[in-house]
Amino acid sequence: MNYFVTGGSRGIGAGIVLQAVREGHDVAFAFKGNREAAAKVEAEARALRPGALCKGYVLDVGDPEAVAAVADQVLADFESIAVVVNCAGINRANLVISMSDEEWHSVFATNLHGPFYVIRAFLSSMLASRFGRIINVSSIQHSGAAGQANYAASKAGLHGLTLSLAKEYGRKGITANVVVPGFFDTDMTRESMPAQAKEYWAQYCPMPKGRMGRIDELATVVTFLAGPGGSYINGQVIPVTGGLDWTY
Ligand SMILES: NC(=O)c1ccc[n+]([C@@H]2O[C@H](COP(=O)([O-])OP(=O)(O)OC[C@H]3O[C@@H](n4cnc5c(N)ncnc54)[C@H](OP(=O)(O)O)[C@@H]3O)[C@@H](O)[C@H]2O)c1
Repeated sequence: MNYFVTGGSRGIGAGIVLQAVREGHDVAFAFKGNREAAAKVEAEARALRPGALCKGYVLDVGDPEAVAAVADQVLADFESIAVVVNCAGINRANLVISMSDEEWHSVFATNLHGPFYVIRAFLSSMLASRFGRIINVSSIQHSGAAGQANYAASKAGLHGLTLSLAKEYGRKGITANVVVPGFFDTDMTRESMPAQAKEYWAQYCPMPKGRMGRIDELATVVTFLAGPGGSYINGQVIPVTGGLDWTY
């Protein structure tokens, strides 16, 4: 099966790309502009499975015309895409009272409009083969977090999009699910998660020493949903949080 993964150059997305390659799939992935990180993922994929087709595409998922053009190119290069994983995401923390229009809209463009453009671009080919797996990466903060209203609202919207897709296309063989990561050690959490939130996590997450998740613990849930084990899972919100179900 061929995958298309957004945000595949770094962090959780890179982990999903490499897990899919490890399991024998070919993977196209999108990234915003970090060519060095993308080249590293491509090289790791080749080392994991020589002969694997794994290729990165520069793309701003918030640009609908660019999404359509890249989707056409990906379908020309890979012939078909069975699995779409929307993992690209950004976080621009601020209190609502001082949040700029740009902070609000840029987070929505990447985290919610992007998945919509990407899914729309691949739906026709999924419908033609009467098979598809759509997996959208949300966040534990979808239920609200101080200083993250833009991020939380975009992720809550992603749930609405996903659950609607499940109802629109389930009968056509296309499932759609959301995975909800808790706290994973990536550039995003290193750069934008306050120390106080990290301490909170360590104190309350019901895991040994309140540990954060490993990227493979999220990536394998995504490939499970895309694989035979996930065939009757549709329209679900699946937390991968170590059991912590509320935020600071
Ligand atoms: N890390 C966590 O603990 C955590 C927790 C909850 C939810 N999540 C969610 O998990 C997903 C991945 O997070 P992460 O921590 O792995 O993030 P990350 O390390 O910051 O990586 C972000 C990825 O998204 C790409 N990207 C950003 N904006 C883009 C755009 N407009 N168009 C296309 N690609 C874009 C980046 O490309 P470049 O490399 O080119 O910049 C990079 O590949 C996000 O949706 C995030 O909200 C993460």
